[in-house]
Amino acid sequence: MRVEVVHGSVVETPCDALVVNLFQGVTAPGGATGAVDQALGGVIRQAVADGELRGRLKEALVVPTYGRLPARRVLVAGLGPREQFSLDRVRQAAAHAARAARRAGSRQVASIVHGAGVGGLEPEAAAQATVEGTVLGLYRFRELKTTGDEEGDQADVTGFTLVERDPGRLEAIRRGAERGRRYAEATCLARDLMNRPANLMTPAALAEAARAMAAETGLECEVLDENDLARMGMGAFLGVAQGSAQPPRLILLRYRPRDARHTLALVGKALTFDSGGLSLKGAERMEEMKFDMGGGAAVLGAMRLVAQEQPAVNVLGVVAAAENMPGGRAQRPGDVVRAMNGRTIEVTNTDAEGRLVLADAVAYARSQGADWIVDVATLTGACVVALGHVNGGLVSNNEALADAVIAAGRDAGEGIWAFPTNPEYKELLKSDVADYKNSAGRNAGAISGGLFIGAFAEDTPWAHVDIAGTAWTTTDLPYHPKGGTGFGVRTLANLALRLGRA
Ligand code: BES
Ligand code: MN
Ligand code: ZN
Repeated sequence: MRVEVVHGSVVETPCDALVVNLFQGVTAPGGATGAVDQALGGVIRQAVADGELRGRLKEALVVPTYGRLPARRVLVAGLGPREQFSLDRVRQAAAHAARAARRAGSRQVASIVHGAGVGGLEPEAAAQATVEGTVLGLYRFRELKTTGDEEGDQADVTGFTLVERDPGRLEAIRRGAERGRRYAEATCLARDLMNRPANLMTPAALAEAARAMAAETGLECEVLDENDLARMGMGAFLGVAQGSAQPPRLILLRYRPRDARHTLALVGKALTFDSGGLSLKGAERMEEMKFDMGGGAAVLGAMRLVAQEQPAVNVLGVVAAAENMPGGRAQRPGDVVRAMNGRTIEVTNTDAEGRLVLADAVAYARSQGADWIVDVATLTGACVVALGHVNGGLVSNNEALADAVIAAGRDAGEGIWAFPTNPEYKELLKSDVADYKNSAGRNAGAISGGLFIGAFAEDTPWAHVDIAGTAWTTTDLPYHPKGGTGFGVRTLANLALRLGRA
């Protein structure tokens, strides 16, 4: 989709759909919405007076213009109550409006920047959020459909134009709109990778996607295979992969700007399918386990953004890709494996595989001299029980890094909530026969799972984000259609930018 910013007036902008907005409770709109209302002979005020339009979030009233404006139709997007207004509500309102415009058959959509007027938001940030919401909301995964369905029959929106009257704001709005497009497209890259089923999105296929992205953006890319992993002593990672016919891959991406002194490592869990292994999962909803590579997908999307946004910090992307299957060579419950750093692990449950591949991936990041390690993983059902689908769960050994991750998430519209990490929780990971066991039972499962990974970061500042509840959605959310959400992409890129400024 083309995204552009033009200087002009909404009442002179030709398009299939023109998006304006309304706060809840406003009866006489001003600004661009007022101008459009006037050109249409007061129909928007009338709609408010009649209770047809209330300005509630999720509302998008379609008004045909019948030639009274160069726009074929007007969409009035509800912004909700003014007191609850935020950048994330801009994303939501923009997404609802864009989808309503598409449903009405619009190909060329024009819009004002939501929130930059009476909303009181910074024009640049508001433009970014307006474009993010639009592009993220219009996303569809259709590459495997050969016949149209009802939703698929709607033509794609091909162009999105932000219209701004004030020439003094144009430059900031252009910057924001461009950044919004890049942020949304990187998120959609992660969604595509997640939505592809496990027979197509194998560890090798994920590595190929990483190579292609690196070639496009100028990142260095290196892919290690099972022989490399064996040579490096990554027994925890290999143990998970050995039950599958699909060989594992460790995908390494490097961004190295001139004279950056510090290195941030972004480490992603990428189980292209998690059957549970011999500790087999039930059949119900097992198909969702194709999304178990959501952490790795977030790292790939974030690395693409890093290449584009150019933070002043080295960034190492590490994606541990494997398939967890119960084949004849599969590891058994009770097996003991040795991770790259020499620590031994009793595998008490083969379905706690994410922490095993991450043990080696995090140890690798540390061996590369990372100053900060942040891992992202669809790690535990316990995190979904604790936080639902609203927040990712954070476990960390470093308060400053944890705060930076949470703040980076807030800027991205991605909620992240920190779990406590009292030393008592680590007791749960003690094994009778090895240094650790990989499964500590049901209680505090999201915390013990996170702390297990942290053991391999040792004294390096580390944070873990469990995205089991937020990586995908089974219902359409305001700007996340069903399927992979790409959660983490924008947070991790924001984090790199933050650490580059610090
Ligand atoms: N990939 C799953 C976690 C998961 C479960 C993500 C549900 C999204 C929805 C992970 O590998 C897993 O199976 N975790 C186990 C750990 C347990 C055996 C300690 C879990 O959460 O049940
Ligand atoms: Mn599992
Ligand atoms: Zn898993």
